[in-house]
Amino acid sequence: MAKDTSGGPNHVAIIMDGNGRWAQMRNRPRLFGHHAGARRVREIVEACPGEGVKYLTIFAFSTENWKRTQAEVAGLMKLFRRYIQREARDLLANGVRVRFIGDRVRLDDKLVRLMDELELLTSQNDRVHLTVAINYGGRDEVTRAARRLAYDVAADKLSPADVGDETLPKYLDTYFLPDPDLVIRTSGEARISNFLLWQSAYAEYEFIDTLWPDFTPDVFAKVLTSFKARDRRFGAVKV
Ligand code: FPP
Repeated sequence: MAKDTSGGPNHVAIIMDGNGRWAQMRNRPRLFGHHAGARRVREIVEACPGEGVKYLTIFAFSTENWKRTQAEVAGLMKLFRRYIQREARDLLANGVRVRFIGDRVRLDDKLVRLMDELELLTSQNDRVHLTVAINYGGRDEVTRAARRLAYDVAADKLSPADVGDETLPKYLDTYFLPDPDLVIRTSGEARISNFLLWQSAYAEYEFIDTLWPDFTPDVFAKVLTSFKARDRRFGAVKV
């Protein structure tokens, strides 16, 4: 029998935290944890259709993550390249549409080319929409959006009087996404770390102790069940 997914979130966003500690607990280098984390990404994407989750957005690399050691940054960039190369075929076959958010300017050309190719390859898919945030920061995104909006005003494409709260989202990296219903952060940290600042205005948050490499589809299902028990009012009073 198919699972009852009514009342579940349409869009789940995840701050995948705890890879480093997971590796450290095993006396292994931090990149070992990131590789284990990448394997979890695959399982969670595959679990989405059965859970009624249409949109999944994951935070893979923040604008602040450049402050890590050069070896870790290089290892993560290599992991992203290899992940795209290895997973492209299955993502396509499984109906996953992949898109990336974040500023691509600082990323290396080869990675950007692979990201562009994967977006194009999967552009006709509609079963699950996976958005991967790389070199992403919420303040940076809003700043870049405001700059583009200002250019449009200067070019007379937009009048300042017409700028409403539905205008800016069209300039955000996430212009193609509905707002997240649920934001999950793993590893016991209760911070949002500059993730989807504008978009999460009415999102529910779940901060769970599980480290990201231990975030199995079963843990995911439990978090979704707890979401369903919440009473979302969007600022209104329940009648
Ligand atoms: C945070 O854990 C994790 C990251 C900064 C990287 C997230 C990347 C992955 C899960 C790898 C794969 C992703 C894709 C899309 C292939 P942390 O290193 O901050 O952990 P710590 O807080 O325990 O040190």
